[in-house]
Amino acid sequence: MAAEPETLERELGELLDVERFEPPADFVRRARVTDDSLHRAADKDPPGWWREQALAVLDWVKEPQQALDDSNAPFYTWFADGTLNASYNCLDRHVEAGRGDRVALHWRGEEGEERDLTYADLLADTQRFANALKARGIGRGDVVGIFLPMIPEVVVAMLACARIGAVHNVVFGGFSPESVKERMLFSDAKALITADGARRKGKLAAIKPAVDEVMGEVKTLDTIFVVRHADNDAPMTEGRDVFYDEVLQAADAECPPEELPAEHPLFILYSSGSTAKPKGILHTTGGYMTGVTWTHREVFDLRPDEDVFWCSADVGWVTGHSYIVYGPLSNGCTSVMYEGAPDYPDKDVWWELCERYGVTIFYTAPTAIRACIKWGAQYPERHDLSKLRLLGTVGEPINPKAWLWYHKVIGGGRCPIVDTWWQTETGGIMITTLPGAQATKPGVAGTPLPGIAAAVVDDQGEELPHGTQGLLSLTRPWPAMLRGLYRDEDRYVQTYWAKFGPRKYLVGDASKQDDEGYVSVIGRVDDVINVSGHRLSTAEVESAIVSHPKVAEAACIGQADEDTGQAIAAFVTLEGDLEGDDAMVAELRDHVASRIGKLARPKRIIWSDELPKTRSGKIMRRLLKDIAEGRELGDVTTLKDPDVMAQLEEKIKIAQAEEG
Ligand code: PRX
Repeated sequence: MAAEPETLERELGELLDVERFEPPADFVRRARVTDDSLHRAADKDPPGWWREQALAVLDWVKEPQQALDDSNAPFYTWFADGTLNASYNCLDRHVEAGRGDRVALHWRGEEGEERDLTYADLLADTQRFANALKARGIGRGDVVGIFLPMIPEVVVAMLACARIGAVHNVVFGGFSPESVKERMLFSDAKALITADGARRKGKLAAIKPAVDEVMGEVKTLDTIFVVRHADNDAPMTEGRDVFYDEVLQAADAECPPEELPAEHPLFILYSSGSTAKPKGILHTTGGYMTGVTWTHREVFDLRPDEDVFWCSADVGWVTGHSYIVYGPLSNGCTSVMYEGAPDYPDKDVWWELCERYGVTIFYTAPTAIRACIKWGAQYPERHDLSKLRLLGTVGEPINPKAWLWYHKVIGGGRCPIVDTWWQTETGGIMITTLPGAQATKPGVAGTPLPGIAAAVVDDQGEELPHGTQGLLSLTRPWPAMLRGLYRDEDRYVQTYWAKFGPRKYLVGDASKQDDEGYVSVIGRVDDVINVSGHRLSTAEVESAIVSHPKVAEAACIGQADEDTGQAIAAFVTLEGDLEGDDAMVAELRDHVASRIGKLARPKRIIWSDELPKTRSGKIMRRLLKDIAEGRELGDVTTLKDPDVMAQLEEKIKIAQAEEG
């Protein structure tokens, strides 16, 4: 029965005073972990304990005797004398154990198409595609770009790379071809796997011609594999381009997995940093696979034989790598993969899929929950969500109101919620609650997982008392940690290890801890902004805006936003006497979309004759943030021209009056 909106509002209001939710008795009865024994066991000897987990959750060709090597910190290695293959762990071992018929992926397309792929199906395609890669001269250590929609072929492509020791470099489908090109250039990619088109809410985007326009500049690129997905013509360049289905058919059926050292690179994933150039975050095989397999099993209290797991992220982000592909497949469970948008064909499609496939564990981002709240509880209430037993969130802080709505409307008040804090760099979940063992607190992520250590520190790296806000730092190496930035060792050291030295990883988030050691993560302290859980760099957006011929200068900031968590506001100075108007706003937004992707378009553009600068010419973004968020201005004495601020304040007031 659907509740009246007023009743729901009242019930949620009453819950706002509840600060902690104990694990529900029904959940605890069957939970994998119900006490702090894992945390205590891990604390005695973290590297040794991680080695035990590595042996327990993975199949190794040669079991590692070594755990952590920190002799060359911050260049840590894990399990370095062990050998294994990630695709073997995700596929072959389940098929060999007689579980080849188990559905690995229930795939649902935008227009309602359905495909169930078993572990045996995925293994067959992965072997064939691995042979097709080899036939095009791709082997160990070669970088392969992947720019695909949310279709099963993306999983096959990733695992085929892993099978032969090639390093995949997936680019989120929402990025522009320009961004794909940049990422292929930075990594000297030898091949790219893309599609004839992508579908979004009933519309078709032709990917291949757009990719062709820029990819000629990537001299290392010998092959483009094209997946026929959208029934769309794709221009093919003789000698370079081949159709995925044709090479798959022509390839041999068997491709034994390569035996790879644990520290063999598994993938690079470009992510935004403080400068305009994205960082190629590098993960290796043994440690990453240990981290994601273990966290997927314990944080989600997984029963691989019964659960149906759904992570609604896109595979183009780390959440998709770790909790759509490697974690769930390594654990041999059944997952859901959905191509489309959460409001197409209607706003209940997610809940329809939960009902249809009997989803038991659902993992999404706070921004999606806020959108669902806006659409209304009537959509989930149309469907039977009674199979759900555990919910998760990731990507940004969740406000208590959204947490409570998720708990009540989606979880029926009976499902624990794991608020998982982690980053592209950490590879897997780091801070959360083990759902059968620890109470949850709305808006608070939880404690470091077993084997993980974190601290809230001041600017000098000294630990702060509980309750005081400071910088989050990870104070112990962990297996799934990044191993570096691709071909950029200096930047790796500078970004993460220069501030506090090689033993204290600088996260870049502000946070505080309560007396039980629970960590709340407040947000980024650097020039990285989090729009709908997508990480963007202000410098990257600025550089895209400035590349427009009519723009003289630009400064971007992240502004708090009710829907997307943060939104981008751009202060822009045009060339000469040019005046900014609505047409120019649209032009600049389109320009940013074509340079980076639609997700990076500024929500607000504020025309400014001048930007506030220090006497040495540095733009003072802090002041822009203050005026954009209506705060009292901080110290302006270092400004070259203090009048600039008064003019901008006036403009913001006018813009806000017009909007509101
Ligand atoms: O600021 C934190 C925020 O997302 C950042 C990492 O972004 P990315 O590398 O794109 O990975 C996102 C998915 C793992 C973090 O530095 N963040 C992530 N999870 C949470 C969070 N902030 C608060 N609570 C979380 N649960």
